[in-house]
Amino acid sequence: MAVGHPMAALAPTPPPAPGPALAGPASEAVPLAVWPCAQVSAQYQRAGRYLPASTAHPGKMLPELARRLVAEYAPPGSLVVDPMCGIGTTLVEAAALGRRTLGVELEPRWAAIARANLTHALSPAQAAHAEVRVGDARALLAVLGDLAGTVDLVATSPPYACDAGMIDKPAWLAGQSLCRRDTLNYSERPANLGHARGQAYLAEMARVYAACFTVLRPGGLLVTVTRNMRRRGRVFDLAGATVHLAEQAGFAYLQHVVALLACVRDSTLWARPSFWQLHQTRRARARGEPASLPVHEDVLVFAKPSTRAGSQNLKGLQREPERSSDASSSNWPATQRPATARAVAHG
Ligand SMILES: C[S@@+](CC[C@H](N)C(=O)[O-])C[C@H]1O[C@@H](n2cnc3c(N)ncnc32)[C@H](O)[C@@H]1O
Repeated sequence: MAVGHPMAALAPTPPPAPGPALAGPASEAVPLAVWPCAQVSAQYQRAGRYLPASTAHPGKMLPELARRLVAEYAPPGSLVVDPMCGIGTTLVEAAALGRRTLGVELEPRWAAIARANLTHALSPAQAAHAEVRVGDARALLAVLGDLAGTVDLVATSPPYACDAGMIDKPAWLAGQSLCRRDTLNYSERPANLGHARGQAYLAEMARVYAACFTVLRPGGLLVTVTRNMRRRGRVFDLAGATVHLAEQAGFAYLQHVVALLACVRDSTLWARPSFWQLHQTRRARARGEPASLPVHEDVLVFAKPSTRAGSQNLKGLQREPERSSDASSSNWPATQRPATARAVAHG
């Protein structure tokens, strides 16, 4: 199955009023895969493997999703970088799979927990190949130093241009705010991209993807996890906007994976919402919006062209949308293409 802009077919309703243009011209068709990532709950996936302090972070990736994308897109021994690493899920799972890994995080608070998680979850031999640096993803080149240009895989989940916060249910039941203020949008500092919205968000994420492009080796991969959001009643096609930003940075769009946040039992999907998601959905419905619980995230896979000529070809392809740029015609030699892309492209 092939799709163009990832969520085009699934967007629940048209927005009530026209807004600013968020995405560019429609992308080429790419292979689609579906990964079940929540057959067991998030709490169960993290139990014993991640320190309890990790629960304070409001936007963690599912360990099963991090493990799967590292296994699919980074061969053993390769260098995996997460430029917005939070409490270090990508790093823990990558190092446990025998990859070298480096995380960058703006907030010293989350970086400290990421370091502690590495020590907690990994053997000393595995932890020796994992590192966390406090820094800004927009300045990745400077933060990585000598490692710039050698990265095999950048794997990340950025903020989603919507509110995220750590629930304080007892305080809420006592009539106070639902969310702890120090965790709202990851930090009280406006510099944290968790606070960026609309065009400002897109401009800052463009800088992040440009920095990712620079630090990857030729032929390296960018995997970014997004989720389409509803804000003030309007759907924000974050997956489509992200494809556009990455292509503008010079990447070729290689594959779209639907990562199920729901559990598959027989022929039924059972949502595994957080209390925050339930609360947000109920509030939206009370306002009359046709909101539904999120049951998947979009995993978007891009390649940095191997050669300067590849970059030039790519620019040509972006100007001529009728020509194909799917996995089978990308700059990936057939033997080096990620396994899922190969299987779906030829299956
Ligand atoms: C969705 S969370 C990532 C969570 C991570 N995947 C995990 O499992 O813990 C996004 C992270 O980006 C961080 N962040 C925001 N702006 C940043 C920037 N400019 N540079 C680096 N990190 C940033 C936030 O503090 C937050 O921890």
